[in-house]
Amino acid sequence: MNSISFFDEVERIRQTQQPMASQGTGSVAIGTPLTRIDALAKVTGSARYAAEFRQDGLLYGVVVNAAVARGRIRSIDTSRALALEGVLDVLTHLNRPRMRSLDLFYKDMTAPGGSPFKPLLDERVHYSGQPVGLVVATSLELARLAASLVDVAVDAEPHETSLHAGLARAREPSHLKVGYTPPPQTRGDAHGALLTAAHTVDAEFYAGVEHHNPMEMHATTALYGEDGHLTLYDKSQGSQNCRWIVSRVFGLPKDKVTVRNAFVGGAFGAGLRPQHNLLLATMAALQLRRSVRVVLTRQQMFTFGHRPETWQRVRLGADAGGRLTAMIHEAAAETSRKEDYVEVVVNWSSQLYPCANARFAYQVVPLDQHSPMDMRAPGAAHGVHAIEVAMDELAHAAKLDPLELRRLNYAHRDGGQDLPFSTKALKQCYDEGARRFGWDRRLPLPRSRQEGNEWIGWGMATGTWDALQMFARVRATLSASGQVLLESAATDIGTGTYTAMAQIAAAELGVPMEAVTFKLGDSRLPVAPIQGGSAHVATVGSAVHGACEKLKKDLLRRARKMDPAFAKANVAALTLRDGRVSCAGTGASLPLSAVVACEGADHIEVKYLLLPNALRQRKYVRAVHSAVFVEVRVDEALGAVRVARVVSAIAAGRIVNPVTARSQIIGGVVWGISQALHEETLSDHAIGRFMNHSFAEYHVATNADVPDVDVMFIEEDDRIVSRFGAKGVGEIGIVGVAAAISNAIFHATGRRIRSTPMTPDKVMAPLADEGWSAMSKRAT
Ligand code: MOS
Repeated sequence: MNSISFFDEVERIRQTQQPMASQGTGSVAIGTPLTRIDALAKVTGSARYAAEFRQDGLLYGVVVNAAVARGRIRSIDTSRALALEGVLDVLTHLNRPRMRSLDLFYKDMTAPGGSPFKPLLDERVHYSGQPVGLVVATSLELARLAASLVDVAVDAEPHETSLHAGLARAREPSHLKVGYTPPPQTRGDAHGALLTAAHTVDAEFYAGVEHHNPMEMHATTALYGEDGHLTLYDKSQGSQNCRWIVSRVFGLPKDKVTVRNAFVGGAFGAGLRPQHNLLLATMAALQLRRSVRVVLTRQQMFTFGHRPETWQRVRLGADAGGRLTAMIHEAAAETSRKEDYVEVVVNWSSQLYPCANARFAYQVVPLDQHSPMDMRAPGAAHGVHAIEVAMDELAHAAKLDPLELRRLNYAHRDGGQDLPFSTKALKQCYDEGARRFGWDRRLPLPRSRQEGNEWIGWGMATGTWDALQMFARVRATLSASGQVLLESAATDIGTGTYTAMAQIAAAELGVPMEAVTFKLGDSRLPVAPIQGGSAHVATVGSAVHGACEKLKKDLLRRARKMDPAFAKANVAALTLRDGRVSCAGTGASLPLSAVVACEGADHIEVKYLLLPNALRQRKYVRAVHSAVFVEVRVDEALGAVRVARVVSAIAAGRIVNPVTARSQIIGGVVWGISQALHEETLSDHAIGRFMNHSFAEYHVATNADVPDVDVMFIEEDDRIVSRFGAKGVGEIGIVGVAAAISNAIFHATGRRIRSTPMTPDKVMAPLADEGWSAMSKRAT
């Protein structure tokens, strides 16, 4: 690396990463609370997002969407749009640039099995809202106007968008996704055990469609370079995944495409797969040899995937003392006709509670929809909800405290795989969370507390999610002045990655935060996975940790050559504080600049490849856990549910930064409240389209819906999952929240609601209108 460009680059990046003055100079460790280092850049607007990059002559693309759910395009009349001055082109399947047609070129790193959607490939319409054209004009306003003038005639074919109506076609997934774990094997005789159980539960659950609504809409700014090089600023959870797909679909050499995503305004799974705006902006840039920006509207955020509509049935049996003797958990969820999008829904039950007689089943129902998509804690958000409400029902049937029932049925090993957990501090989450909440003062019977018009209820639930580690490479460069640059094609979708990675490095090297710069969000950087599955800290963080250790080893090797006092020094005790390489406890110390320069260069560069130790990891179940306690206040006359208090106790390994980690959990809890009470995208099945695709009608929790959220971390030290004991906290915060709210509503009112969202109509409705019957009512 050229040293001048290196320092320029560091300075440029540093301008977006400024530790708050109060916390910059001190020493940091794993666990030091730090405000995020990109906060200033974000609140002052200097952090730029995909749709904020500009260039002279930039063109604007606006997507034209199909208005039928299934059919063939007969004709597209673009004449009225093209007649407007300033409209350069309307791309459709008839005039698009060359692109490949085989499935394999469209399979991104997170694609489920089957045939991926290919925008503008041909005349087929697979779902309502599908992009069928892209208008390109000199201004956004003009492009939007022109898009409204494009006339698309479609020969419609019969469609099916209702899970309920399609349930008869439910089948096992025929293609499996990488990383998908099929339901656990049947054990014992669950049906037989149900017949002889002292207490039983048989409950059906229904969850409506939810759409991702990050603050930042999906967007791509495609900058067309003089040499034909494409720089694509994209709202994505993985720049390399996007780069890979663009170069394959258009047959471009990989060094002709760069994807950048240094700042992402939330994604929650919507940015795991490259979205159609990326391919459309690229298409237009290639066609016109100009730079083009495509931003989806809020309405169009409802046109590329969603949390799938899901039906579940849970049957539980227990002996007189409350120990589980039978468990049957079945689920059926929608997918598209083209791909088998699959989620792990029923496996969590097997992992959470030991039971000798158990059956699990998971099926999919292909519909005329875009393939569903991962959304924060995909599968667990539904599956854990069902088992945790069913457990509450069992507690009520067995006249046991709900928390006591969980303690009675605590899994010390995973029953399905018969493996130990790498770490599992769930018991402490139960204990500490209950103490903080005051759970021991809970009155056992529902409908026991009323204040004014409100019934007050307390509910709890367990949460769990995977503790994953993938592979990643980090390049670490140390300058003679003690500046450290770390680089990896990781992503920070708002989770605090910049801060956490810099903190891991600062802690490992013994340098202040200002000495560290972490560069991410560029497909040219060393390989990193998509930011998904709550795996970045254990993955990229471990690679950072490894790279820093490698740097220290190299420094020690050099120091030993320069000064015999380092002969007995070890890497663990080495620090880089105050411009000196020192070894604690030995008095050995040398100027850092001299050690770095001793072999002639003005910096040291190392690379570290983190590969998970699969052989060791396979011997354990690796998961994070939570216990969620909720107080609700229910006004029965209005059907209104107010969440008054939440305590979320989280066991997710060592916490790198309690400030950003807490923020992740709060975000998850807020979404759990939203999932429980507000969010649902409703279809008009007669036309096969999502109808409430706006914030006026698609409700998300706002400040007024969210009380103070009390987050507690129960520390674990998990060296199976990561090099330094951390797991991940991106997803666990949402899991179990909706169940705890449902259970609290039951405790408040005596009314069991088994479908989400628990809207006022359901709160007021009689018991029989829940679960499966609620779904039948909805089917049109
Ligand atoms: Mo997450 S749903 O893995 O982005």
